[in-house]
Amino acid sequence: MPSQKQARQRLLIKGGKVVNDDLSVVADVYVEDEVVQQVGPNLKPEPSTGLVVLDATDKLVIPGGIDTHTHMEFPFMGSRSKDDFYTGTKAAIAGGTTMIIDFAIPQKGCSLTEAFDTWKSRADPKVCCDYSLHVAVTWWSNEVDNRAGFQFHKLVKKEMESLVQNKGVNSFKMFMAYKDIYMVNDEELYEAFSCCKELGAVAQVHAENGELIAQGAKKMLAMGITGPEGHELCRPEEVEAEATQRAITIANAVNCPLYVVHVMSRSSAKVISNARREGKVVYGEPIAASLGTDGTNYWNKDWAHAAAYVMGPPLRPDPSTPGFLMNLLANGDLSVTGTDNCTFDICQKALGKDDFTKIPNGVNGVEDRMSVIWEKGVHSGKMDENRFVAVTSTNAAKIFNLYPKKGRIAVGSDADIVIWDPNATRTISAKTHHQANNFNIFEGMVCHGVPVATVSRGKVVYEGGVFNVTAGEGKYVSRPPFPPYVYKRVRQREQVSQPVPVKRAPYTGMVSGTSVMQK
Ligand code: URP
Ligand code: ZN
Ligand code: ZN
Repeated sequence: MPSQKQARQRLLIKGGKVVNDDLSVVADVYVEDEVVQQVGPNLKPEPSTGLVVLDATDKLVIPGGIDTHTHMEFPFMGSRSKDDFYTGTKAAIAGGTTMIIDFAIPQKGCSLTEAFDTWKSRADPKVCCDYSLHVAVTWWSNEVDNRAGFQFHKLVKKEMESLVQNKGVNSFKMFMAYKDIYMVNDEELYEAFSCCKELGAVAQVHAENGELIAQGAKKMLAMGITGPEGHELCRPEEVEAEATQRAITIANAVNCPLYVVHVMSRSSAKVISNARREGKVVYGEPIAASLGTDGTNYWNKDWAHAAAYVMGPPLRPDPSTPGFLMNLLANGDLSVTGTDNCTFDICQKALGKDDFTKIPNGVNGVEDRMSVIWEKGVHSGKMDENRFVAVTSTNAAKIFNLYPKKGRIAVGSDADIVIWDPNATRTISAKTHHQANNFNIFEGMVCHGVPVATVSRGKVVYEGGVFNVTAGEGKYVSRPPFPPYVYKRVRQREQVSQPVPVKRAPYTGMVSGTSVMQK
């Protein structure tokens, strides 16, 4: 029996079809020291001790999934999300995801760096797979303090700069909703986008009009609509689409690349699609929930069922939404998938039993994202296996500057690998999932596409339903600024689209009744 250290060091995956975003090829994969060393036919590494062999015949060998959007143990809306960094990342690897990117979110007026440190100290001892952190910008200040003879910048900008330079953060999320809590106004968005652009970071937005939501919620409650359906009714699609358009306009004004998190509606997806067709550098992230289920659940007669689907932006009652979003994901209008995994159990959701505005927002997804996308995307015939890899890992790795270390199976890449059985099926259920909450929004969904084994940095951490992983084995992954996939285009645009002043002779006529010459 190899020791854990040896098992981590040498691994041979035999006979599978290696699937990257651009090519599928039948090949063996040899891994040593956490990294892919060889990809090719009939590899025969020295059969010395400690070589673990996985048979992948008739299976796909794909890069481990990257979930771009999670909230583990997030203190939010009077509660704390149920999945912590241990249960959340364990569930992730059971589902074929080997890296998550969570969000460090400071309160208004509080330090971004402290939020980052807090989140990191929560995650480090618990993570079962690699992770990284986006940081939220929830307020803005340009205040400069001149005390002690030098300029002390109480500047969010300085914190962002330091996070990029010292902590490996290359993405910042701005909320256009959650009025008085996290929401920033247009001027603050402008400042934050300008700063992201300067630093080579990716600006992310939660795109919903927070003012309209606040008004809409008051209206619903006044009408006596207190149940979960009020959550959707107070923020219809156009509330999401308007904010999406506004964010794109502001980002474009400063030539900042924009990433729209949790795209939930047809309207918002269309706005992104149009912007991309106009050449704007914008990426849309639908999530497992918006691709796999819909907002008709808010009208379910069982309050607990309806409340379990409450998240922001909400799922949409138009049942054609998931299929539409999947079409756009397949054709390239939408780029990448996350989950917004932010789980609350029924007791936590019950904080809002008399008032939908108090239901903690969030749903599951980190375990089921890969299977849901395979089922609704590939098994349905909308995308091929390569596009599946692109939208579940490669594009995320490219946008967040992790590529080709992550999101690819090639010599030199991290050995984050999943053996995927496209023909096996599993039925999603809260009874069998590994997440901490007692409800699953995909309950009963039969999915083709099952992760048979998950390899994290060369170690088989999950195989056939059995885990071999301990808390804290995952690592924090730094992400350098200026991802070429994003910023080469930004630079290119800059070179050709700088306005220049019109050359004209000086004006010599009258100014306010006086001749310029006389002055
Ligand atoms: O409902 C949601 N989305 N909860 C998590 C916070 C956020 O907006 O991403
Ligand atoms: Zn959000
Ligand atoms: Zn979120």
